[in-house]
Amino acid sequence: MLDGLGTLAGNGHIDVLWQPMSPDLETLRGGGEEARLLCGRDHQWWNTFAYEREWLEFPEFNDFLDPGSPVHNRKKYQWEIYERLLRREMSGLVMGSRVLDVGGGVGRAAVPLVRRGCDVLVVDASWTALKVAWKHLAEASPGSYDIAWADVGKLDFLCGKTYDAAVAFEVLCYLRSPGVALRGIVDRVKPGGWVAFSMENKLGAALADPALKGYDLLKLLGDDRVQIEEELYVRYFSKEELRKMAAEAGLSRVRIVGCHYIADGPFNKAVSESKLSKRTIRTRLRAMESVFSMSPVTRNLARAWLVVGVKD
Ligand SMILES: C[S@@+](CC[C@H](N)C(=O)[O-])C[C@H]1O[C@@H](n2cnc3c(N)ncnc32)[C@H](O)[C@@H]1O
Repeated sequence: MLDGLGTLAGNGHIDVLWQPMSPDLETLRGGGEEARLLCGRDHQWWNTFAYEREWLEFPEFNDFLDPGSPVHNRKKYQWEIYERLLRREMSGLVMGSRVLDVGGGVGRAAVPLVRRGCDVLVVDASWTALKVAWKHLAEASPGSYDIAWADVGKLDFLCGKTYDAAVAFEVLCYLRSPGVALRGIVDRVKPGGWVAFSMENKLGAALADPALKGYDLLKLLGDDRVQIEEELYVRYFSKEELRKMAAEAGLSRVRIVGCHYIADGPFNKAVSESKLSKRTIRTRLRAMESVFSMSPVTRNLARAWLVVGVKD
């Protein structure tokens, strides 16, 4: 399916899984009535449906690793937050460490991981995101990378493969069965390896997300999921629920911390894209975020919870 793009990579150690791991993914990529019917049967796919449409309408917003993207600095800042919160785990990754990046999108995590020397497998349901990730990964070294066009809830195709670590940033909350998906991810990690994932937090999302503007906020605060046809399907979790989910998936020494209070969070309006282009400002904002995450007054306003644990 990605014929012709192989030359973009050119680092010679890629084993791209060109075919979709399930026919549903091909249907979603095509959009149209068949894709709508599929999403009607399984609401989690509304995200992928909307995402593929966004790629047609707003490619510059979706390809935010491109420095010309209007949200490039915002997304970079958010990545720096994840990287900082996971610095202990990241520092354990060495040349050749194998990392699974599920729902990896355009490669926001995979590119810096390859730059650290890791061998990364990016799994995603969006063909277009993978195509763009492929382009960005081609410029990353010295590690290597692979791509799989697959549903993160069905990682059986990786049976027999194991990883030193796995990341799933901003993806599991969009799945029908996030706990099952998390178990599938943890199964692929070696004992002693770590898994990090982030999930949307209801209060932070309600205060920040423009997609939720038309949604009845009272209903939102009473529900644990939002379903907007052709737009969004998202589930929210409290820290307690996430702790339980992580333990049930086989993770121990679990740490959960609030993040994204500012960019794309409740205090989004406080920063502009141009301010975020300055490293000193990003450093100062990160310090503010860490105060927000510790204060009992603000910590529950996080847009997302970052969870990290070690496989037993
Ligand atoms: C909000 S983006 C996050 C992307 C990336 N992890 C990052 O932090 O930049 C969510 C990603 O999850 C992918 N996704 C959503 N549902 C999926 C599923 N069931 N299986 C695989 N990928 C999925 C989307 O295609 C999209 O690339």
